[in-house]
Amino acid sequence: MVRFENVGLRYGNGPEVLRDVSFHLQPGSFHFLVGPTGAGKSSLLKLLYLSERPSRGMVTLFGQALSKTPRSQLAELRRKIGVVFQDFRLLDHMTVFDNVALPLRIAGTPEKKVQEMVSDLVAWVGLEEKMHALPPTLSGGQKQLVAIARAVITSPKLIVADEPTGNIDREMSYRIMRLFIEMNKLGSTVVVATHDMYLVDRMKRPVMELHEGKLLEASWWLTPGEAQEMPDFA
Ligand SMILES: Nc1ncnc2c1ncn2[C@@H]1O[C@H](COP(=O)(O)OP(=O)(O)OP(=O)(O)O)[C@@H](O)[C@H]1O
Ligand SMILES: [Mg+2]
Repeated sequence: MVRFENVGLRYGNGPEVLRDVSFHLQPGSFHFLVGPTGAGKSSLLKLLYLSERPSRGMVTLFGQALSKTPRSQLAELRRKIGVVFQDFRLLDHMTVFDNVALPLRIAGTPEKKVQEMVSDLVAWVGLEEKMHALPPTLSGGQKQLVAIARAVITSPKLIVADEPTGNIDREMSYRIMRLFIEMNKLGSTVVVATHDMYLVDRMKRPVMELHEGKLLEASWWLTPGEAQEMPDFA
């Protein structure tokens, strides 16, 4: 699904912010990405969702080596990836409904189905009353929920979430984690960058840990037998 081999990333002529990063994500896996502020989590995710290209090393996505993928095909690859950006990136002139509907409409989903799917998901994240509101009128947490709904609405092959629970309360964080787990069970590979170690501890999923641009050798890895989900997350 995703393979990084000795990947390095620098912005412009700056220092490398990712160094010798190698890992492999199996299809259908669920990983957390942790590490201190500035460790390179968002940078690693940008490589995953094709917003940056590595300065060295090799990234393979859906079996395709990115260095050999023509730019014209990148858009097609990107449509298989649902992204929750750390800064949300909602379209401010479009309603909550239309923001969440956008990826479905781009994929050519019949409008009747769009109405049904978007209404259900927006209600599920508790924003039914904000369905027709514009993003600038929402709270930070509400914007985050819209960003999450937009990222998962098409059941993408890969879901990449950058601090998706950074602005919402504990109860809603659990609800969002349940949503990611549900998407994962339906076949999406999921990568979640977070600072919330309480959540990570309870989820019992493999964790990749970054420090100063390097992936620690001893990332925690629970074997499936050890993984005991809390009842909350069943
Ligand atoms: N567009 C950019 N141009 C130059 N340097 C950048 C850019 N984006 C990030 N950096 C640098 O790359 C390093 C890693 O940043 P990154 O945003 O990946 O960290 P992070 O682990 O996501 O941090 P946080 O927990 O605060 O979100 C930092 O030193 C940062 O200053
Ligand atoms: Mg970040």
